[in-house]
Amino acid sequence: MSQLHVIDHPMIQHKLSILRKIGTGSKDFRELLTEISLLMGYEITRDLPLEEVEIETPICPMTAKQVSGRKLAIVPILRAGLGMVDGLLNLVPVARVGHIGLYRNEETHEPVEYYCKLPEDIQDRLVIVTDPMLATGGSAVDALSMLKARGCTHIKLMCLVGVPEGIAKVQAAHPDVDIFVAAVDDHLNENAYIVPGLGDAGDRIFGTK
Ligand code: PRP
Ligand code: URA
Repeated sequence: MSQLHVIDHPMIQHKLSILRKIGTGSKDFRELLTEISLLMGYEITRDLPLEEVEIETPICPMTAKQVSGRKLAIVPILRAGLGMVDGLLNLVPVARVGHIGLYRNEETHEPVEYYCKLPEDIQDRLVIVTDPMLATGGSAVDALSMLKARGCTHIKLMCLVGVPEGIAKVQAAHPDVDIFVAAVDDHLNENAYIVPGLGDAGDRIFGTK
């Protein structure tokens, strides 16, 4: 069974509260989302393996540690997932970035695929899928299935806010994928928006409404 990690560090909670506010504009929203993504990235990368390397400091030689193992890929679900990429890239500048385009049909709330461009060697990488909103879970389930169809075996899902039904849907479809969120909200409304949530993440990031 996949693990749910709720990263409730005080600084993340504080920044998330500002980001949720209706009066927070796109510039601040983007900056806060980037900051939170970097902070969440510390937890998501906590179990990366280390190897020992011989280096020289200005004082003497020493055995130091560096990250080893699979290289990383960050795969945002367009559009809103883009808002979490820069924070992760600040942490792991050498990560490759793929893109999966999905939008929700406004009536059925089912995801519709419109784009997929991934690094050539995606199947050899640890993939972090980003999307701030885990609502019905349909978009995340489809994105994870697309990655598995390309041979990916090591995937983590990073969201900002989830709800129990969306989390359960992802866990049922992809029990091997750990889910990271900063908050688990209460429920979905009749339009499948997260309550209390933060509204439409894509529109708030890009100022489209
Ligand atoms: C939002 C959000 C997720 C999806 C979540 O995207 O960014 O991708 O909805 O909903 P779900 O869990 O019910 O699938 P949206 O379809 O609004 O597209 P956008 O990011 O381009 O605005
Ligand atoms: N997509 C969003 O952007 N917000 C929600 O609350 C649900 C889906």
